[in-house]
Amino acid sequence: MRELLAGAARRLAEAGVESPRVDAELLLAAVLDVPRARLLTLDGVPDDALARFEGLLDQRADRVPLQHLTGRAPFRYLELAVGPGVFVPRPETEQLAGWAVEQLAPLAAPVVVDLGAGSGAIALSLAHEHPGAGVTAVERDPGAIEWTRHNAAVRAEAGDTPVAVLAGDMTDPGLLRELDDSVDLVVSNPPYVPDGARVPREVADHDPPLAVWGGPDGLDVVRGLLLTAARLLRPGGLLGIEHADQQGSALPALVRAHGGFADVEDHPDLAGRPRFTTARRLR
Ligand SMILES: C[S@@+](CC[C@H](N)C(=O)[O-])C[C@H]1O[C@@H](n2cnc3c(N)ncnc32)[C@H](O)[C@@H]1O
Repeated sequence: MRELLAGAARRLAEAGVESPRVDAELLLAAVLDVPRARLLTLDGVPDDALARFEGLLDQRADRVPLQHLTGRAPFRYLELAVGPGVFVPRPETEQLAGWAVEQLAPLAAPVVVDLGAGSGAIALSLAHEHPGAGVTAVERDPGAIEWTRHNAAVRAEAGDTPVAVLAGDMTDPGLLRELDDSVDLVVSNPPYVPDGARVPREVADHDPPLAVWGGPDGLDVVRGLLLTAARLLRPGGLLGIEHADQQGSALPALVRAHGGFADVEDHPDLAGRPRFTTARRLR
């Protein structure tokens, strides 16, 4: 087992995979349907499982995202179904969701909107961690929203408060008009990568373009999102937006320039990199 994993990790490392050993272990654990921690207690791997493992290693070496191969992505307390057509939720977004959970805690039945829901990672986490919240998940990409709907149905079946999934454009001035001035929290992990920026092959070849690219400075969608958020939020309502490492000044500046928000703050991720901006709708 040790040799098998060491060889697999070497192969992934040679292909430029960022965390080769972890990926090798997670792929083998998925094939054998055992927790990763149990791998080294096993005596060997049956031939058919070995063949499947080799096939997955080939694909991972070709930089297919790990989560597309396992079909699952962990996010806070949930495990979401993911695959081609939907953005793979990232660990750094867990902090934005965590901030949102903390803000919602004092409110019994907050109204929440997640703009650009993808797999539903943020929206479904908020509904899971605050059962009183009424959450609407907005997604524009017809391929991605299939995954939002699927994961929302799975979570509702598991007993979480159902999340409303809406096909729509977060920059549309007519979006969710019925919620104008009534939303307690708008949260978004929008597409924010500047056009033409270098991204890993997993992103370039497998994340949907609509989930990644945000125009020349990466902030095209955010400009429209700000107008929508300002319209939806009640006075005192909160906004949280994820951004790229390099946007830790530009995004807060954009929010301040809007003029309708106070308490504009930027927050670092666990690696200390600027990661999301929060603000409060002016009274
Ligand atoms: C970076 S992904 C984030 C997905 C998910 N919230 C997460 O954190 O994993 C951005 C998502 O916004 C969606 N999106 C992009 N532009 C949009 C728009 N104008 N209106 C609504 N959704 C949009 C994309 O399709 C994608 O699912």
